[in-house]
Amino acid sequence: MEIVPSSKLVPEDPAHIAIIMDGNGRWATKRSLSRLKGHEHGATAVRETVKGCLELGIPYLTLFAFSSENWKRPEEEVNHLMGLFKFFFKKELKELKKAGVRVRFIGDMAGLPLDIQELASLAVEETAGNAALVLTIALNYGSQAEITKAVQEIAVKVKSGEVCPEDITEDMINRHLYTCDLPDPDLIIRTSGEQRLSNFLLWQCAYSEFLFLDVLWPDFDKSCLEKALEDFYGRNRRFGAVSA
Ligand code: IPE
Ligand code: IPE
Ligand code: MG
Repeated sequence: MEIVPSSKLVPEDPAHIAIIMDGNGRWATKRSLSRLKGHEHGATAVRETVKGCLELGIPYLTLFAFSSENWKRPEEEVNHLMGLFKFFFKKELKELKKAGVRVRFIGDMAGLPLDIQELASLAVEETAGNAALVLTIALNYGSQAEITKAVQEIAVKVKSGEVCPEDITEDMINRHLYTCDLPDPDLIIRTSGEQRLSNFLLWQCAYSEFLFLDVLWPDFDKSCLEKALEDFYGRNRRFGAVSA
């Protein structure tokens, strides 16, 4: 991956972009291909997006790759997706490492096939020292399950007397989420035209800007990313206050 150095960040730049990569199936169906081909082409858009974020100097990118509800899909499609994840992690690790990308995962990793867990751990270990871009891959991720897990962990601490109920704060809840070491997303993009979150970062999106694009994920590229940023710069973020 050849990276063109980023232009300098101004304070208004989004630190964290999160993307719901949707529309692989429709992209393939439109071309009379099997849905599986759509997922294969989706991997190209992932590479383009990572490269684009590095070039634009975006420090955090989070990609929704497989939801905890996606197990409901036909077995053949789920198996193909798992195969693609394996292929991607094996093939791209060297490049990601070289490009300065730090890879991390959010989601119920224990619920994934063992070989994927191992490849994911390897990617995390091998890239732990990188800092150009934190690439978070949401795999077997569901926001409601994430919040439920956090509540259970805090409840255990309350039960043992380690924490008083009145000491539970938003910050404490944040620290029990998979995203504990990530800033909240500034911009959430969903491709494919659907306008819903589908159980993605429900807690973390409290003040995110949303952008729903009529582009199918395999067609997403750096120009889409640039247009998304342009749109983002036009927003007026108030966080409950009044504009300056
Ligand atoms: C997103 O594309 C990929 C995953 C959810 C894994 P879809 O497979 O959902 O594509 P559509 O929505 O059916 O077009
Ligand atoms: C959301 O897309 C999950 C991912 C992009 C990984 P879906 O295609 O699963 O969402 P729904 O089912 O249309 O809401
Ligand atoms: Mg979809």
